[in-house]
Amino acid sequence: MRVSKGRNPDIENHRQETLLPVVNSYNEWDPLEEVIVGVVDGAAVPVWDVCLEATMPHKQRSFFQQNGGKPFPKERIEAARRDLEEFAHILQSEGVIVRRPEAVDHCLPFATPQWRSRSGMYAAMPRDVFLVIGDEIIEAPMAWRSRYFEAIAYRPLLKEYFRNGGRWTAAPKPQLADELYRDDYREPGPGEKPEYVINEFEPTFDAADFIRCGRDIFVQQSHVTNRFGIQWLERHLGDRFRVHVLEVNDDHPMHIDASFMPLCPGKLLVNRERVPNIPSMFKSWDVLYAPEPCIAPGHPLYMTSAWINMNVLMLDQKRVIVEKNETTIARALKEFGLTPIPCPFTNFNSFGGSFHCATLDVRRRGGLESYF
Ligand code: ARG
Repeated sequence: MRVSKGRNPDIENHRQETLLPVVNSYNEWDPLEEVIVGVVDGAAVPVWDVCLEATMPHKQRSFFQQNGGKPFPKERIEAARRDLEEFAHILQSEGVIVRRPEAVDHCLPFATPQWRSRSGMYAAMPRDVFLVIGDEIIEAPMAWRSRYFEAIAYRPLLKEYFRNGGRWTAAPKPQLADELYRDDYREPGPGEKPEYVINEFEPTFDAADFIRCGRDIFVQQSHVTNRFGIQWLERHLGDRFRVHVLEVNDDHPMHIDASFMPLCPGKLLVNRERVPNIPSMFKSWDVLYAPEPCIAPGHPLYMTSAWINMNVLMLDQKRVIVEKNETTIARALKEFGLTPIPCPFTNFNSFGGSFHCATLDVRRRGGLESYF
């Protein structure tokens, strides 16, 4: 398997044939040419704090409390690494160029003048860290202290994309001072208005709270994305884009891509529990409600709900990568007119995401369009 790092003449030739900017991606469905796939090597269990309390599955509480700052279990990392290899292999055999970040030891401590963290986390989910809008890659101002330096593992790739003409931006680096976090955060009871564990002290967002449909970009406010962060991005992007804040009913909101997934123009995949009211601009679109996940209830999911069954990756308007054992959603997507490509990924799922989270689509063949 060829997993490319650094300069690669094959990749440069391929791009010359397509005549596209090296970074070019406006939506979730144009034909995929080049993608970054995360790595789990060196992954550390983030240290327990109020942000984890607000977002992580209740069942995993003691796992985090006992293992914060330590490496994830070796056999879980190995198994997830095998899933990623197979995923990369499938993408390559479908004609997609696969790039990988550097393996970094995330168990090392770090500090700023205001706080210190016993460890980082991982470089498994490039979707959380970077937002690609057209020819620009934007580094997100992430709200978790453990993720403060996560972008570093991708720097060799970012420098290469920049040298080859891509635009490279970082949102203002947040301070992540104690003032940002609501230490009095309590989970909302049934029917109670959701509150967030972060306030409006400074702009923060994770890129995975946004989802792109050409000129229209949808976002959810969450435990990592505040209104200040959304406003920063909106102003940064300017008039060419419309940013819509979606009402999502999630009791642990963090990352929109297990709730709301535009698959291609006219086809929307939705989590019925979380998005009871689909915005009226989608009224002419067909809606597929994600069927119940198949993943075994005992399978360790440290950092996500089982709804990552709907965290699929579109290779174009038809081909979609789906978890091999998630047969209910594979069948539903097929009936919806798509061509599912199965890939084993449950071991990777343990780390908090699936195919959409694990990737960053650097280049898709297509331009900026309005779909509404
Ligand atoms: N918070 C979502 C859930 O628990 C998982 C989203 C994962 N997405 C990501 N980009 N890491 O269902």
